[in-house]
Amino acid sequence: MSNPLKVGIAGLGTVGAGTVRVLETQAALLAARSGREIKVTAVAARERGKDRGVKLDSYAWHEDARALAGLADVDVVVELIGGADGIAKDLVEAAIANGKHVVTANKALIARHGTDLARKAEKAGVTLAFEASVAGGIPIVKALREGLAANRVSRIYGILNGTCNYILTNMRETGKSFAEVLAEAQKLGYAEADPVFDVDGIDAAHKLAILASLAFGCEVDFKSVHTEGIRDISAEDIQFADQLGYRIKLLGIARRTEHGIEQRVHPCMVPEKLPIAHIDGVFNAVVADGDFVETTLYEGRGAGAGPTASAVVADLVDIARGHRIPAFGVPSSALTKLPVSPLSQHRGAYYVRFTVLDRPGVFAEIAAALRDHSVSMESILQHSRAPGEKVPVVLTTHETEEGAMQATLQAILKSGAVTEPPTMIRIEAF
Ligand SMILES: NC(=O)c1ccc[n+]([C@@H]2O[C@H](COP(=O)([O-])OP(=O)(O)OC[C@H]3O[C@@H](n4cnc5c(N)ncnc54)[C@H](OP(=O)(O)O)[C@@H]3O)[C@@H](O)[C@H]2O)c1
Repeated sequence: MSNPLKVGIAGLGTVGAGTVRVLETQAALLAARSGREIKVTAVAARERGKDRGVKLDSYAWHEDARALAGLADVDVVVELIGGADGIAKDLVEAAIANGKHVVTANKALIARHGTDLARKAEKAGVTLAFEASVAGGIPIVKALREGLAANRVSRIYGILNGTCNYILTNMRETGKSFAEVLAEAQKLGYAEADPVFDVDGIDAAHKLAILASLAFGCEVDFKSVHTEGIRDISAEDIQFADQLGYRIKLLGIARRTEHGIEQRVHPCMVPEKLPIAHIDGVFNAVVADGDFVETTLYEGRGAGAGPTASAVVADLVDIARGHRIPAFGVPSSALTKLPVSPLSQHRGAYYVRFTVLDRPGVFAEIAAALRDHSVSMESILQHSRAPGEKVPVVLTTHETEEGAMQATLQAILKSGAVTEPPTMIRIEAF
């Protein structure tokens, strides 16, 4: 067997401790598969005394994670601290500059600095690997970069945030509100104390930007991802979706269009007959459409110590084997800057829920706004209440342009027909 691959792990939280555990438990299997031992030599985290459920005595401990980038007995720095900037970025840049390979699970870092880091890694002749940064245990980075290499990918979409999927699934199963389910998810550890990154769609947008780059061979363009979260989804919307034959899912969708690349993260109405409508709880799923392979679907756990560490270790095995592939599947000099397709030109069908006062003439005002903007209605649902009371009215439209839909909603809001801003959810029939 050749020399061991020497690994320094920075960050020993959920993923870092999980990675140590996988490397210990599977040591013999990994050595057989890699043709060499994968050996942790150094670790770093903030608090040395913390019980992390794994034995760390045999590894050199470093208070300053940045030190790992300069150690002679480290071939690969595994960055599992997190954050787009600060210590994670400093460490990764220093490691690359010192000729060390880098493995990271940090989607924020790759979404914001992926192209630049890939260029630096290539120049230094080292690997930058980030399988764990998207969809946890699902090997979607490898699938896009290698398994689908023969295809031109036209579209990729998926459920990329387990916390949101758990909340939406639970809201549907229990009829509870977003706030109630979020509070319960926080108690159970399925949602962070600060849930902003998850429930506002930012985490999914980070992952989508990475997938789009891999799928389309373009620079990572996180800033162009249109991002909406799930805070405004009500128990009523979930009930109406059921009545209309849909499930509400937070999806990340990236497509090539005639105008350029469309990247968007938002709640969607998905027909319940589609497999992705039935990916529930904390699970993730990704669908990729290639011109020769056609539609492919990948499903699995998108987070957690085991699944995420499984992806981190897969990257280590590739490095140990000497398997070198450009970070985004093509050399970074070949990554293109594709134009951004504006959401106002997106064409699709829409679900809209209005709250109106049950009085004569309200429907006529709504119908007039639809007519004026050439938006054609497909169906309407109304549950009657006593005259003068607030009542929800739900309509779905035929395919129309997003700009026209937005203008219609503005006109309806201005007309005074509704008592609060309407809720609009895009219908994705795929
Ligand atoms: N959790 C998941 O399921 C999951 C899934 C996919 C990707 N990821 C990504 O994986 C990365 C790690 O996530 P995690 O959930 O494992 O986070 P975590 O549990 O919060 O662990 C973070 C670790 O980083 C250490 N750390 C923080 N600041 C540091 C500093 N200045 N210097 C040295 N060490 C520092 C912490 O040290 P102490 O323990 O001493 O405080 C802790 O061990 C993130 O990029 C995350 O987005 C996580």
